Amino acid sequence: MKNIAIYPGSFDPITNGHIDILKKATELFDTVILAVAEATTKDHLFDGAERERLCRESTKYLQRVEVTKFDGLIVDYARKVGAKAMIRGLRAVSDFEYELQLALMNKHLDSKINTVFLIPDYKYFYLSSSLIRQVVSLGGDVSVFIPTCVENALKERLLGTEN
Ligand code: COA
Repeated sequence: MKNIAIYPGSFDPITNGHIDILKKATELFDTVILAVAEATTKDHLFDGAERERLCRESTKYLQRVEVTKFDGLIVDYARKVGAKAMIRGLRAVSDFEYELQLALMNKHLDSKINTVFLIPDYKYFYLSSSLIRQVVSLGGDVSVFIPTCVENALKERLLGTEN
């Protein structure tokens, strides 16, 4: 039986920090499903379809990674695709409380699905999608932190230009 893990998030947009976590997860699981949350409590820059497209484009070279979009509870989706584990990245200490809250609530909703925390490379420790959006909107260069397709999409959306 295949060991499937799900890596959920808003990915608005996906960054190299997320991809670093994804690569680490593929070393532990047979298949990792990157699941883009269609609706979250956040105001998104990119809609679900665009976030999914950027995730697919950015990870197409990775083996055993699938990209999908989901709506509703993540545990329901995990159960539907037969995932045993949920991957979350833990960056600075500030992530811990929020991540613990999510993990415990998900455990309450489905005790069979465990959360696996992975630590990203130190250069991605303080990276977040909102920081990337902010810096690009102000004309800063963050190309080392994001895939080229994401950089182009951000420039087009925020500055009306592209490389
Ligand atoms: N590298 C870079 N940034 C990272 C990162 C990494 N390795 N890991 C997390 N982040 C950042 C994200 O960029 C994001 O930054 P932002 O807030 O500036 O946009 C932030 O950390 C957290 O984002 P994300 O990991 O996408 O989590 P989220 O809180 O937006 O979404 C869901 C979490 C989608 C998994 C959760 O809301 C969910 O499961 N929703 C479905 C409904 C549900 O089941 N709810 C009950 C859950 S208990």
